[in-house]
Amino acid sequence: MAIDQDRLWRRIETLSRITDPERPWTRRSFTPRFLEGRAWLAAEFRAAGLETEIDAAGNLIGRLAGADPALKPILIGSHSDTVPSGGRYDGILGVLAALEVAQDLVERGERPRHPLEVVDFLAEEPSEFGLSCIGSRALAGTLNAEHLALTRPDGMTLREGIAYVGGHPDELASVKRPADGIAAYVEVHIEQGRVLENERIPIGIVTDIAGIHRERITVTGRADHAGATPMPLRADALVGAAKLIQAAYERALASARGNQPLVATFGHIEVSPNAANAVPGEAVLTLEVRSGDEAATAAFGAALARDLRPALEALRLTIAVAPISHVAPTACAPLVRQTIARAAASLGLATRDLPSGAGHDGVQVARTGPVGMIFVPCLDGRSHAPEESITPEQAGDGARVLAETVRLLDAG
Ligand code: GLV
Ligand code: MN
Ligand code: MN
Repeated sequence: MAIDQDRLWRRIETLSRITDPERPWTRRSFTPRFLEGRAWLAAEFRAAGLETEIDAAGNLIGRLAGADPALKPILIGSHSDTVPSGGRYDGILGVLAALEVAQDLVERGERPRHPLEVVDFLAEEPSEFGLSCIGSRALAGTLNAEHLALTRPDGMTLREGIAYVGGHPDELASVKRPADGIAAYVEVHIEQGRVLENERIPIGIVTDIAGIHRERITVTGRADHAGATPMPLRADALVGAAKLIQAAYERALASARGNQPLVATFGHIEVSPNAANAVPGEAVLTLEVRSGDEAATAAFGAALARDLRPALEALRLTIAVAPISHVAPTACAPLVRQTIARAAASLGLATRDLPSGAGHDGVQVARTGPVGMIFVPCLDGRSHAPEESITPEQAGDGARVLAETVRLLDAG
């Protein structure tokens, strides 16, 4: 096994530079920029000797045939989309480390026993449709008709979006894997926190992946002239939204003192008419709540809306809460965790168990078989921001542990 760390790093540099130039590092799913990244990736997959296709759900998959086709496939990978103005490594590290592992096998003429699939899952980050983990949901069979009907602000439906990236939304059944359909899924990812860096540990073994609950909260008032409408007569939706945001912040902050803290974020707001000289008539906010306590995440938004309704009504505002998605916290499989630990030990790399506060495709893929994640440190724990930073050595460590993990899983 001989991971080519320089090649891995060159590829990370190249793919990360496929970004919207005016807001690095941005490669949003369902955009021409995303397709540009995908075209480059598909060419690299092919040149590495992988049989490459876009599946019906819009996942990019590179396959290496196994010596025993009766065995279930081992999946490795991550995602190539980013958040707006995100970092250079969230996602692509896992895809390119997986490519490096597969290419190394091809170059050494070593055929794994299991079929090996390198996967770039479609839209792991929340897309403009409001939904995240779209490709892995299809793999797990949880991408439903309601999801396909979701629209983004320009009116495109998710069904159309999947076709836009080369998928076939009417054939999603072909992508779904059965409950025990894979031998394992392993993803390398940056930690997006400070635990590994603070403790100077090169490899994290993920114990659980956070559950995420998202809701769309619509505050409705009345758009009016911003100069001619006296203050007492206004129904300003954004003023009501501000009250919600403040209350959610205070409640989540208070939970930090308890034994089951939750985090709550309003990370996306659309205001209309969104004009300097108009009173906001409507504010549509996305609330995201995460915690190890699944019930608490699900109850948070409804309680917030119920408790603030009187204050909003006093401002002549109405409030409506609609679900977007709910994903339970997911435990990583002991088989994969133990195999990662053995792999790292054989490479002389120290490890530590840790939970992931970030969501990942693994929560969906876990419905189809055992999943695990290999974390590497990132500078100051920064992520979902342009400052995200890792070293070539850290990327190489992740890829080396992945390669050895795949070898052990394949032999086992
Ligand atoms: C994925 O990046 C998430 O945690 O939202
Ligand atoms: Mn992310
Ligand atoms: Mn990610």
